[in-house]
Amino acid sequence: MTLPLIEAAGLGRCYRQAGESVMALASATLRIWPGQRIALVGRSGSGKSTLLHLLAGLDQPTAGTIAWPALGPVESLLPGKIALVFQAPSLLDSLSVAENVALPLLMAAQERDSSARVAYALGIFGLLALADKFPQSLSGGQMQCVAMARAIVGEPKLILADEPTGQLAQSGAQALLDALFRHLSGSDCALLIATHDPVVATRMEIHWQIEQGLLRNSEQLAGSR
Ligand SMILES: Nc1ncnc2c1ncn2[C@@H]1O[C@H](COP(=O)(O)OP(=O)(O)OP(=O)(O)O)[C@@H](O)[C@H]1O
Ligand SMILES: [Mg+2]
Repeated sequence: MTLPLIEAAGLGRCYRQAGESVMALASATLRIWPGQRIALVGRSGSGKSTLLHLLAGLDQPTAGTIAWPALGPVESLLPGKIALVFQAPSLLDSLSVAENVALPLLMAAQERDSSARVAYALGIFGLLALADKFPQSLSGGQMQCVAMARAIVGEPKLILADEPTGQLAQSGAQALLDALFRHLSGSDCALLIATHDPVVATRMEIHWQIEQGLLRNSEQLAGSR
């Protein structure tokens, strides 16, 4: 029996700041299955990053439940089983590109063959020439490609990518997705990309819309296994 990677019901997140409360996510019910390719589409402030952080187990919901039936306890998710590509730049300035990409392997104590795996991940995105450079010398788009190489290096079961092409021109965004899809082809790794870009969204099989914290994904749930 295939178990879902993630199962959430009535998931909500309300932020409280200076006496005000913001309902960033209201009652989301969802499942993510191995191999799915999902676009999470919504305007700025609609709750995409909030949802991704909950799905990665980085943040805790203020309502509802979430579990990772095929992955195990929340403490075990990052960085091995789930790879999260943050919306904000997240490379460490004091480490080279290759060292940044190696981080998930070091954190998961998978140091064996790490240089071969790092080279493989860099090669997928055409980044080998940047291996010894430091993040300050990269463009925003190059940093996003490096962050994606770092996401795949540990062969996660689920990649959650938050606006991973926001700094790339259209051709660069397509090239990044081409490389990612080639790498994932035939794998059961699931991919969820939060994006504003309709061109990115159309490349994904499943589309979830989010508007003012309300997730619309009923077709996907109706068609689930
Ligand atoms: N830490 C926080 N404290 C208070 N409010 C927050 C916090 N983080 C997000 N919010 C609010 O929650 C709502 C959803 O924010 P979120 O960052 O999830 O949106 P988003 O869809 O990712 O937007 P963008 O496309 O601009 O990245 C917004 O109204 C935002 O102002
Ligand atoms: Mg966001």
